[in-house]
Parts: sequence; C-alpha cells; structure tokens
Amino acid sequence: MVEQAVGMTTVPLGVATGFVIDGREQSVPLATEEPSVIAAATFAAYLVAEAGGFTTWAADPLMCAHIYIEGVSDAGLEALARMEPEARRTLEPLLAGMVERGGGLRGVSVCRVVGTDLARLELRIDVRDALGANLLDSAAESLRAQVERAGGGRVLMGILSNTARERRAGASFRLPAGLLGPACPAGMDGGELARRIVVASGLAQVDPERAVTHNKGIMNGISALALATGNDTRALEAAAHAYAAQAGTYRGLSRYSLSEDNGEPHLLGEIDLPLPLGTVGGSVGFTPASSLVLKILGEPTGEGLARIAAAVGLAQNLAALAALCGRGIQNGHLRLHARRLAWRAGARGAETAPATERIAALLRLRGSLPEAEMRAIVLEVRARSPAEGAR
Ligand code: MEV
Repeated sequence: MVEQAVGMTTVPLGVATGFVIDGREQSVPLATEEPSVIAAATFAAYLVAEAGGFTTWAADPLMCAHIYIEGVSDAGLEALARMEPEARRTLEPLLAGMVERGGGLRGVSVCRVVGTDLARLELRIDVRDALGANLLDSAAESLRAQVERAGGGRVLMGILSNTARERRAGASFRLPAGLLGPACPAGMDGGELARRIVVASGLAQVDPERAVTHNKGIMNGISALALATGNDTRALEAAAHAYAAQAGTYRGLSRYSLSEDNGEPHLLGEIDLPLPLGTVGGSVGFTPASSLVLKILGEPTGEGLARIAAAVGLAQNLAALAALCGRGIQNGHLRLHARRLAWRAGARGAETAPATERIAALLRLRGSLPEAEMRAIVLEVRARSPAEGAR
C-alpha cells in the first residue's frame, strides 16, 4: 500500500451497537485509539433507538476537480466556458466505467479565482461508490493540453478539491427528553439536560473556541468509521472543517432544539456535513479488516456509508453533550483511563475491576499516579484473591 514499508501499526477496532438508522438495526465498527468513543456512540445509539432511531439523507456523490490556468484573457475565458462537449469527448474513455455504474461528468464551468489572475476550470463528476480522488486527478490532468489550446494561457495545476461541498449527508433524531434520564446526575431531570444540550449546541454556533472541540467529538466517530473502512480520514477531516468554516467563522456541525409534544419536551438533534466516503477502490476493502468491517456494515453503497457516518457523528456528539452538560465528561473517561492503566500495571481477568476502582479513586484525588504504585495496587488485589488473578 505504501512505499518503504517496514511494518504495520495497529489501532483497536471495536463495534458500536444499538444503532437504528432509517428503521434498520445496525452495528458500526469503529477504529480508534481513544477510550470511551465506542462506549459513547453505543450509549447514544440505544437512547435514540428507543425514540425510533436516526433518520438520514445523502446527496449525490458529486466531487470537483479543478484546472488552474495562468494568463487567460477574457476571450480565452469565454472559449473555456464553451468547452464542455470537447472535454466530455476527451474524458469518455477515462469515465466509461463510472458512467456504466451510473456516475460520470455532470458539468464543466469556469471562473476567475478572486484575488489572483488565475482562471479555474471546474469538472463536476459523480463518483458513485468510489472516493474518486485518483479519477478526479486523472481527469484534471488529462485535459491540460486541451485547456491550453482552447483558452490560451498555461496550466498551473490540475487537482481534485477536497471540499466535497456537494457530497453531503445528514442525520437527525427526535427524542422525548425523559429518555435522557440515564444520563442525568442526581437532582437533574431529562428536560433540564435537554435544555442544557440546546444551550451548549448554540454556544458552538457562535464561539469558535468551543466549536472546534464540539466538532472534534463528532469526528471522533466519523473518522473512526472512515479508518475502519479504509477510507481517507484526512480528506474527510479537511472537508468537514472547511464546511464548518464556510460562513466565515468556524461553527459547530450539529444543532439541537426543543419542541413540545403533548406537553412533553422533545430534543431534536441534526447534523449536516460533507462525507466523502467510498466503499470501493483506493484502500477501501484492501485489508482483511476493512473488508470484514464492510461486511458487518451490510456492504453499504458509498451513499449508505455516508448516512451511517452522519448518524455516528451525531450519536457521538449527543453522548458528549449529555456527559458535558450532565455528569461531566471525566466521570466516564477517568474510569476507562484507569482501566487502561490497571492493564498496563499487570491487572488481568477478574482482578481488573477492583484494581481499576482503586486506581480511579486515587486519580480523582491526585490526577496522576506513579507506575510503581499502580503495580503495587495490582499485586495487592492479586494477593487477596490469587485464584481470580490467575484466571
Ligand atoms: C473528546 O475526545 C471529545 C469531546 O471533547 C467532545 C466535546 O467536547 O463535545 C468530549
């Protein structure tokens, strides 16, 4: 897959369960090194499933490639604006397979790039189930000579745009606030937690300092799904963050609101972002793990995978906001962190739980613990019930 390879690095692969997406039960494999991401997605998935699950949508998988040209006159720009039929003919052999699968060239347009003297020719291509990066790059590069002939000027470069601005997908849910009960600390009810979640999501719309972390949580789920399926996580992150900043200030990718139904408050959650995910080509399905992941997902189309990703991103966000505005995020995080430390200190099998409890309690007090102290805790736990330790 790569040059000068010396080995493989591994990332844990887990399965978030309990999702209901457009009426279909779904387990979602996630590859991530971060504890609590899979637990959080699962927690939110079960909550939303109780209220009927996620409803999703996805737009056509349209991607753009750009050819940037120097020294184009106004007359040259007009000539480029008329070159779609010729470009279509030239691209025919390259796009034949894509056309057979229902995709292909959807349009050619040209503009000046504001703030430069460059012209930009845009190719819009429906890439169906592929990520499409190689195809778009090849399409842009194969038109170089023709573009120079038609418009004059000199091609600077041809490359896809990772904005994927049209290849968007979204998800939403509507939840009776009472269902948030299990996430509430003592003295708070579901209605109050729902109200606080709405305030927190509004904050992410106006405060970029908060919005970045809000979106990082969303991408915890989406990037983990992309990694598990062998998709390009950097392309996905670049597209999501560019979209979050498209209004000129960086904003949260999800929104929440409250509505009343028969006197009961309901929490509505929504997300919408570019999700350039493929299910064929590139490194998708290349490794045995990624092809198994696609099997677990039910062999979705690219559009189907984007819908699942939107639901996972929203679930991740709901879980984060419920924790942040409810019991606090460290409550769950700390236990999982302590469990990892207990394992590193030698705890195995049934001794893990008591060792984790003791390490977590000390972490709450002191923030960190020396390795030797944690190993001593594990030995002490083992000494109390050696049979359990051996198991
Ligand atoms: C941690 O990886 C993600 C969160 O910080 C997300 C958020 O703050 O919304 C918990």
